[in-house]
Amino acid sequence: MPIARSHRRPLLTGIVVGTIALVLNVAVPAVAREAIDSTIGGDQKKLTTWAIILICVGLGRFVAGALYRISLFRVAWGVETDLRALLYAHLTKLSFSYFDRTQSGQIISRANSDIRSIQVLLAFGPLIAMSIISFLLAFAFMMTLHVRLTLVALCTLPGVYFFGQKLRHSVFPLTWVSQARLAELATIVDENINGTRVVKSFAAEEHQIGLLQKAARHIEWVNVQAIKERAKFNPIIEALPRVGMAVVLLYGGLLAINDDVSIGTLFAFNAYVIMLQAPFRMFGFLLLQAQRASASATRIFEVLDENPEIVDSPEAVTLSQVRGEITFENVCFSYQNRLSQFNNDSLVKGSEIISNLDLSITPGETVAIVGRTGSGKSTVARLLTRFYDVDSGKICIDGRDIREIKLDSLRHHVGVVFDEPFLFSTSIAENISYGNPTASSAEIVNAAKSAQAFEFINDLSKGFETIVGERGYTLSGGQRQRIALARNLLEDPNILILDDATSAIDIQVESRIHDSLRNHLEGRTTLLIAQRISTIALADRVLLLDGGKIVDEGTHKSLMENNPLYTSILAEAETSSHQGGI
Ligand SMILES: Nc1ncnc2c1ncn2[C@@H]1O[C@H](COP(=O)(O)OP(=O)(O)OP(=O)(O)O)[C@@H](O)[C@H]1O
Ligand SMILES: [Mg+2]
Repeated sequence: MPIARSHRRPLLTGIVVGTIALVLNVAVPAVAREAIDSTIGGDQKKLTTWAIILICVGLGRFVAGALYRISLFRVAWGVETDLRALLYAHLTKLSFSYFDRTQSGQIISRANSDIRSIQVLLAFGPLIAMSIISFLLAFAFMMTLHVRLTLVALCTLPGVYFFGQKLRHSVFPLTWVSQARLAELATIVDENINGTRVVKSFAAEEHQIGLLQKAARHIEWVNVQAIKERAKFNPIIEALPRVGMAVVLLYGGLLAINDDVSIGTLFAFNAYVIMLQAPFRMFGFLLLQAQRASASATRIFEVLDENPEIVDSPEAVTLSQVRGEITFENVCFSYQNRLSQFNNDSLVKGSEIISNLDLSITPGETVAIVGRTGSGKSTVARLLTRFYDVDSGKICIDGRDIREIKLDSLRHHVGVVFDEPFLFSTSIAENISYGNPTASSAEIVNAAKSAQAFEFINDLSKGFETIVGERGYTLSGGQRQRIALARNLLEDPNILILDDATSAIDIQVESRIHDSLRNHLEGRTTLLIAQRISTIALADRVLLLDGGKIVDEGTHKSLMENNPLYTSILAEAETSSHQGGI
């Protein structure tokens, strides 16, 4: 309602002009009736006058019709745009846990086809409502002319309604099935395209084509069923008005012969019989579309009603200066797991990933976190940036609980680089300046230099203006990682987390990166999550994470000497990194 209200001017214009169009529409047969009856004696001058009047009515109908279509469609598209903006704005506020449990296909279908079905209702609903009014007007007018002829003329309408209803009942479920299958097909197409590297490397093209064909055949089947139903009912529905015309001619003709009605009235009735079918048929469409739009609205509200779990508290402050001290006090955390694929309500807490974790990192320190795969290292990074909130305990930066810091301020000061960086399909320069669009080109070049990305970018034919392919796939893994690193360095965060962020970069380049990182900002606190000994060796201190706790800490050397778990983790990591993979 608030969205529709913000478009009330074109909406009101549309309704007013629409009413005029409708009255003129109903007037055409009435005017023709007058014309025929008053000129049937042979008055040629009158005939010209009537023809001009008819043309004027027709012109008026044309102008009003054009205006009300423009106004109403403008409202419908305006509402669609507003809804889409609202939905997207809401989605950007939702937390990671929401996206963990929601399929992106579901969100995309809500943003596309559900909004579209509301738009269709808004565009055609008023039109159809008005044509129903025109039905009533014409009906009343016909009744004033001849009651019995009116009833005879409209005797086929219940048939139109009945068969229309039958058609809808058989076709409506089929269109739903068709839409669901289209979504399935879209998922397969999407995976074929995005997963093409995996598909090709396993030579699984045949299998994928088979999947696609199967889905396509399902769609074909359901659409053929729908066509069969339509072929059954549509000819009946179209033939009925002609039966109506025959009945009017027969009964009305008899009345005219007996001088009970005029020739003009007979003509007008014939015109109305045809005209009145449309509202009857469209009324069914309106009901159907209203059902569909209300289902769509429910699905859209499902997203809009989803509360963002991680929001700024009212007392949250903006940090201007950060020293970079990090403490975890007795932190416990577990992810939420979904019990079923379709029911969002059945959420349960999974097993505890982080349990009673205590951790303290002093400003400017470089600390490495080492642990088995799945031990929760990335989770520590996600908690520190508040992608998720802790279940108990607290995390502080410079002694302040991160829940008391404004989210954008927190994420500005704490930069994370992940191992699988996502690049946008824009230029390299735009990718690097993503978090800081006003950065000068000198700043962009500096960031690229610090991330040891400058040389390879310069070697590209278009340099910083090179457009990277989707997700940056035209670059190598190590190149992508360096661009992602440059993107974070440009933001100049006081706390930098590198989560396996240099895993694809060779050791010499990596050590140069760490040299320039050190020069770049002396006081920066750096958290290294790494498997490679060369990377870990850069840390002042190494923390060993196991079972959700820090089980040991020390320098790389002391842990190597004293901790068998530590040596076995590193040995495993070395072997698995040599095996490689896709
Ligand atoms: N979004 C999520 N929802 C539910 N469980 C998750 C989610 N992300 C991670 N987990 C689980 O939490 C555990 C810790 O994951 P995490 O990504 O922190 O491991 P990690 O130590 O970074 O491992 P790796 O070295 O392989 O990157 C894993 O058992 C994983 O299955
Ligand atoms: Mg990880």
